[in-house]
Amino acid sequence: MDLIVERKRKVSGEIKVPGDKSISHRSLILASIAEGVSKIEGLLEAEDCLSTMQIMKDLGIKIEKTAEGSYQVHGKGLDGLEEADDVLDCGNSGTSMRLLTGLLASQDFYSVVTGDHSLRKRPMQRIIGPLSRMGAQIWSRKNGLAPMSIRGQKLDAIEYTLPVASAQLKSSILLAALKSEGETIINEPAVSRDHTERMLKGAGVEIDIEEDRIVLKAAEKRKLNSFEIKVPGDISSAAFFITAALTADEGELLIKNVGLNQTRSGFIEVVQAMGGEISLLNKKDQGGEPTADILVKASDLKACEVSGEIIPRLIDEIPIIAVLAAAAEGKTLIKDAEELRVKETDRIAAVVSEFKKLGIEIEEHPDGMTINGPVEVEGGIEVESYHDHRIAMSLAVLALRTKKGLTIKGSEIINTSFPSFEELLASI
Ligand code: S3P
Repeated sequence: MDLIVERKRKVSGEIKVPGDKSISHRSLILASIAEGVSKIEGLLEAEDCLSTMQIMKDLGIKIEKTAEGSYQVHGKGLDGLEEADDVLDCGNSGTSMRLLTGLLASQDFYSVVTGDHSLRKRPMQRIIGPLSRMGAQIWSRKNGLAPMSIRGQKLDAIEYTLPVASAQLKSSILLAALKSEGETIINEPAVSRDHTERMLKGAGVEIDIEEDRIVLKAAEKRKLNSFEIKVPGDISSAAFFITAALTADEGELLIKNVGLNQTRSGFIEVVQAMGGEISLLNKKDQGGEPTADILVKASDLKACEVSGEIIPRLIDEIPIIAVLAAAAEGKTLIKDAEELRVKETDRIAAVVSEFKKLGIEIEEHPDGMTINGPVEVEGGIEVESYHDHRIAMSLAVLALRTKKGLTIKGSEIINTSFPSFEELLASI
């Protein structure tokens, strides 16, 4: 499918972005292994989370939809999952595959997980390594690629230092460790999103969350209590609209109820460093996650450096930060972001290739890029999504400030995280 986006120099309105993707996955998984009925509101009903939902159903969990975004999950406890009678399909979702492989490694049955052509190329050795050290039996294609088969069994606790700041890896180990008895300790090289830890704690699991160290306390038998959760709006989805408003010539946009967990809000800090006019209003705590309404105005932006510890706190926002950089005065340097090369596509290569096509001054580095702005982009051409939702949406936002608009090829991939993107973009 193609998405055609035309020039638009005024952006304004009031919108709500859909529920947070990371929290939605975790709500479904943790509710399934909790005791009794959990209620989820504001769940992201996009392909990635629907893959997780279908897999939990395949593992014998009853999940009922009660209204749009509202679900009741009939949790069966840590020992209640049942062997599925077919392969478990994670689609495009790395979060589903990595978290569920951890969970399934300790379940007393056999599972096979697979995904689409992009997910089958993504590195799984990073989870197979530590899970195997815990005693897990996992077989993969060469070099740790899916499909993977898992013969679940009793696992040992582990102390593990993550080689990369990855919340998917951290969560995979934590889910695997839930049925082991000893104390599991995870050390992080830099802080990554902490939703799994927060939600486990909220469900009554004894877990200490320190800055770069997580301790799942020893327990003979753990139990998760059922819970009720209202999923806040996804900051990673809001980032596209924040950028659309900041890079417009005029207008102001209000985005209601966005999750602003410190481990996810690096993008807001970058916007502030670039001189973007952004205010956080109506700050609240929503079920253990900080939220606010975000008011953003068309701004004159200046270049900045994005590197170091902030990278894991904005890892998914780097393609859209590149769009901000193309509109900002000066050279923006993004570095320490080699993880981008193993996302849904190689996001460094994808951004560099499409920006070059558009005449934007961009230089590729092994771990990032330098962009020299601002650039008047002519447009009027086709650009590629690389089967990556965040590349497709970033190019759609960039199109708003081109002279002749852009046609984004393969835009159906946006449905993996943000099915209402096109409608919302048209509304502002
Ligand atoms: C996610 C963690 C991040 C992020 C992904 C969602 C999660 O991946 O890029 O979109 O929900 O845990 P990594 O753990 O690979 O950094």
